[in-house]
Amino acid sequence: MAAETSCLEGHRLTHSFRQGESRTTVLHDVSLALWPGEMVLVMGPSGSGKSTLLALLSGLLQPEEGEVLIFGEELWRLRPAARKAFRQRHFGFIFQGYNLFPALTAREQLEIVLRWGEGVPAGEARTRADAILDLLGLGTKKTLRPAQLSGGEKQRVAIGRALVKRPTVCFADEPTSALDWKHGQHVVELLRAAATAEGATVFIVSHDARIIPYADRVFHLEDGYLDSHDLAASAGMGTP
Ligand SMILES: Nc1ncnc2c1ncn2[C@@H]1O[C@H](COP(=O)(O)OP(=O)(O)O)[C@@H](O)[C@H]1O
Ligand SMILES: [Mg+2]
Repeated sequence: MAAETSCLEGHRLTHSFRQGESRTTVLHDVSLALWPGEMVLVMGPSGSGKSTLLALLSGLLQPEEGEVLIFGEELWRLRPAARKAFRQRHFGFIFQGYNLFPALTAREQLEIVLRWGEGVPAGEARTRADAILDLLGLGTKKTLRPAQLSGGEKQRVAIGRALVKRPTVCFADEPTSALDWKHGQHVVELLRAAATAEGATVFIVSHDARIIPYADRVFHLEDGYLDSHDLAASAGMGTP
């Protein structure tokens, strides 16, 4: 279960977006700590600020107010190059849009992460990429390019790409929304296994309630306010 040191903390995160002359605050004073090896789910309706929270915690967006601490270090105090390197090494991302390279095969999408990002030798990169693609049920699709894959298959390649480097934290924004539940459940199970077996921290934002039973902690976000009450604990699923 939870280790003694959190790996990622958001402290009093507040963020707003400018729209013309006015500013709209979409996240209000949100604090959240993530522990190694746990899966945390933030649920909320469309527009409640889920993607914004994920972007802030993962260092993609600088909070207007508040801090993001990664292993106790303030993310926005790092130099840009160091912050980028840190993100590349430690964070995996699964977005709704797949962001795959059109010219690369499924296998190459994963290999490139390991070879260029991590300096893994070609043979090992191939072995690790193939293993994950097999797990994802893409064993026969390894040499296909995105245009030849269905939406669900592209999503699974994107998930493989996030997990293949064994990230410290895997961020997933609506990872099941493009999938039927058979594939969606498989994806959630893989993320669960990454947390349980590999000690990855998995942070999911979604409105898909079917993910709830898999999460260690579940929080609700509404109009930019995070309810600090753990819904998984009250449902008797997580640690009381
Ligand atoms: N780049 C942006 N510029 C202006 N408004 C934005 C931007 N990104 C998000 N918003 C607004 O912030 C609110 C929260 O958005 P978002 O975090 O995407 O919510 P969710 O992921 O829960 O649907 C929405 O009202 C959205 O329109
Ligand atoms: Mg969103």
